[in-house]
Amino acid sequence: MKADVILGLQWGDEGKGKVVDVLTPAYDVVARFQGGPNAGHTLEFNGEKYILRSIPSGIFQGDKMNIIGNGVVLDPAVFKGEAEALARSGHELTGRILISKKAHLILPTHCLLDAAYEAAKGKDKVGTTGKGIGPTYTDKVSRNGLRVGDILHDFEAKYARAKARHEQILRSLNFEYDLAEAEKAWLEGIEYLKKFTFIDSEHVVNRTLSAGRSVLCEGAQGTMLDVDFGSYPFVTSSSTVCAGVCTGLGIAPNRIGEVFGIFKAYCTRVGAGPFPTELFDEQGEKMCAVGREYGSVTGRKRRCGWLDLVALKYAVMIDGVTSLIMMKADVLNDFETIKIATSYKIGNEFVTEFPYEITENLEPVYTEFKGWLCDINAIRRYEDFPLELKTYVEFIEAETGVPVKIISVGPDREATIVR
Ligand code: GDP
Ligand code: IMO
Ligand code: MG
Repeated sequence: MKADVILGLQWGDEGKGKVVDVLTPAYDVVARFQGGPNAGHTLEFNGEKYILRSIPSGIFQGDKMNIIGNGVVLDPAVFKGEAEALARSGHELTGRILISKKAHLILPTHCLLDAAYEAAKGKDKVGTTGKGIGPTYTDKVSRNGLRVGDILHDFEAKYARAKARHEQILRSLNFEYDLAEAEKAWLEGIEYLKKFTFIDSEHVVNRTLSAGRSVLCEGAQGTMLDVDFGSYPFVTSSSTVCAGVCTGLGIAPNRIGEVFGIFKAYCTRVGAGPFPTELFDEQGEKMCAVGREYGSVTGRKRRCGWLDLVALKYAVMIDGVTSLIMMKADVLNDFETIKIATSYKIGNEFVTEFPYEITENLEPVYTEFKGWLCDINAIRRYEDFPLELKTYVEFIEAETGVPVKIISVGPDREATIVR
């Protein structure tokens, strides 16, 4: 058995949570492979809405097992808040979540460092979610991190050492802070975490596959936020691309099966950094209003723009996408003309390969499409789509060479068309 993957192809918030929930019934295990509580994955069903941060989006579909993989960074305080809220709403997690001993812990001082580094960057700041992601991955790579497995042995001393090191850096940055409250919540989170089973997730995942049971790997963020291939330095600090599944779960490349790449019918970005097709006019405002484009973690307004095929094809290439999933098609219901960027004009040159840098003189070149100008939210069969929407979808398929297998026409679980 091979592991299938769902990951974002844009700058995050493509609708990964919704689709993982929709696809989970076909799998035995759902596993997160990277990122942390910078993620906000929204699921809606039966009139209820849930936002997941570190917990995989497979937890609402029966008794499927969910794994937090080694590539994830975990904040025990956030996890506790999330798990308790779910338990209160009738979704008890103990026994249904396994946590990798190799997942790194986000310390309260990592969140302070995140804020201190952003402040030091001034106008060049990344606009992070402030969840301590960058400093935690930095400690991982510089071999200073604390892992979930550390909770089991001599933890107090290890935590004290890490905290002292972080406080020294904070002092050198003249960053003022008060740690007491956050530290209390964090230590309670550590105690709470002990109710869950810590595992060697690479063995569990590979054993699961060898036994012929299926695994769905859930990504966070999106390909254009990848630390290597995203719009660096305006990126997150993990490998959001398909290769991140291999390092974030211990799955060998030849055990990767289907790669579902998710994109919005348009494009959004939250935080700073280049965004070639960004709209600054009333069309962008309309996308934001209709699509309710406000960050689920920070509440920030998401920047909106047209679909960017140069970036999308780049993501399809890097991730080896085998099936595309187009989300939020309904948000474009009321647009007379819909545009897709098919190349960039840089100076006098037309470029179709995503460049090293997005420079000031870059202009997207658009192909225009007639809008469908009708409400598609209640449609449940591809055959019933208006011709203009089919033309839009089939153009994307032809350009990327990858079939669009799922189209989403509303936030609810039911508003999903599988072809
Ligand atoms: P994720 O981080 O990739 O899981 O995406 P988010 O949950 O952050 O953002 C996607 C938002 O769009 C959420 O508020 C979803 O409820 C909503 N959503 C998902 N699919 C659709 C859709 O097809 N149409 C509309 N209108 N909203 C959708
Ligand atoms: P999901 O999983 C959208 C962005 C931040 C910032 C940059 C770095 O919900 O799609 P970080 O806190 O990771 O150091 O911030 O990445 N970012 C996201 N944008 N969706 C996300 O997650 C994001 N996670 C991080 O806004 O620009
Ligand atoms: Mg999100």
